[in-house]
Amino acid sequence: MFNSKRLAPVAAAGVLALALTACGGSTGGGGGGGGGEADGPASQNLDARGPITYVQGKDNSDVVRPLIKKWNEAHPDEKVTFKEQSDSADQQHDDLVQNFQAQNEEYDVMSVDVIWTAEFAAQGWLQPLEDELAIETGDMLPATVASGTYNDTLYTAPQSSDAGLLYYRKDLVPKAPETWEEMMGMCDIAEENDMGCYAGQFAKYEGLTVNTVEAINTAGGDILDDSGKPTLETPEAKAGLTNLVEGFETGNIPEQTITFMEEQSRIAFQDGDLLFLRNWPYVYGLAKNEESSKVQDKFAIAPLPGRDGPGASALGGHNVGISVYSDNKATAHDFVEFITSPETQKFYALQGSLAPVLTDLYDDPELVKELPYLPVLKTSIENAVPRPVTPFYPAVSKAIQDNSYAALQGEKSVDQALADMQQAITSAAAGS
Ligand code: GLC
Repeated sequence: MFNSKRLAPVAAAGVLALALTACGGSTGGGGGGGGGEADGPASQNLDARGPITYVQGKDNSDVVRPLIKKWNEAHPDEKVTFKEQSDSADQQHDDLVQNFQAQNEEYDVMSVDVIWTAEFAAQGWLQPLEDELAIETGDMLPATVASGTYNDTLYTAPQSSDAGLLYYRKDLVPKAPETWEEMMGMCDIAEENDMGCYAGQFAKYEGLTVNTVEAINTAGGDILDDSGKPTLETPEAKAGLTNLVEGFETGNIPEQTITFMEEQSRIAFQDGDLLFLRNWPYVYGLAKNEESSKVQDKFAIAPLPGRDGPGASALGGHNVGISVYSDNKATAHDFVEFITSPETQKFYALQGSLAPVLTDLYDDPELVKELPYLPVLKTSIENAVPRPVTPFYPAVSKAIQDNSYAALQGEKSVDQALADMQQAITSAAAGS
């Protein structure tokens, strides 16, 4: 069982050691707390009000439009326009980077994946949420607040949290598997029912980083050690990646899942083609309520299976940030407050089965009734392991994705993939 004793120091050590020293030369006005230079973009338009744009990835759960409608009815002079990006985390990231680089004042408020705060803040692209732009975080899950904080300054406000969960067909398996081995042992049930056994997200993008990190953490390995150095050439990391590789070799993880991102894997599960699925909480609402779902009453949720008890999820989720180039930062601030309010957080949970960032909502009777897995989710979030915190995160993630993908495809041995990952993360940390 992974107890919090082991996880806590890892979480603390999630900060990539060398990167912190290597990121001194940030551009722009952020990069380490405070509002930057007195006349830099972070000091401008702080009191300005007017129309703004909110940028976010594909609204799979249909929560954004109703929220913006509600806001716009109450704020006719400060209307929000929704700019919807694609559903790939990597494309969302690149779109934000391009628009920050272009100093696009129309990208006012943006959804920031928990792994991007360090990079965007170090570049000076995010408005520090302090002074008149401060956001109250006292009632939020500490891990979500930590994900929005860089160099002791809050740069992004928690919006929705995320942890990996195991969706399983309760009509076909006697009980949820608690370990990876137990789950693999149930794959003959999948075969008898002419369906795939297990899927996660294995296309070459951030989702593969998540699935790889979870496999490694779950087997007792770590991406970084306590001093923040990569530590991938260990028997535990090897055992973790081997689990995925063997899954592909045996067919317990169907070959076609190598192209799966979140949505493809959700749809395969909803179509009744999978016995087990690793995915985020948003899947619950859609698999339960979408008319096309063939599994509406046939599935349940359990913690990710581990080595000898629950596995370790990666901490996911999204925060909201305000661009330093925004024209209307006072409106942007109020919109961020609206997103983090208890009403909106409850709406996210009821409408989209998204994980609230407000601690109290996990005990809210109405929510617990509608979302019976909330206690499992809260435990998964509390025990979730953050991905490395570094301004060079894209390079770190690429090192993990590329090498994991090559191993899953049988193009590299697990040992080689881990050695190459170790090497590439070390280079990324040096800023090269
Ligand atoms: C989810 C998570 C996010 C993660 C992404 C990977 O959106 O909330 O943190 O990076 O999936 O695809």
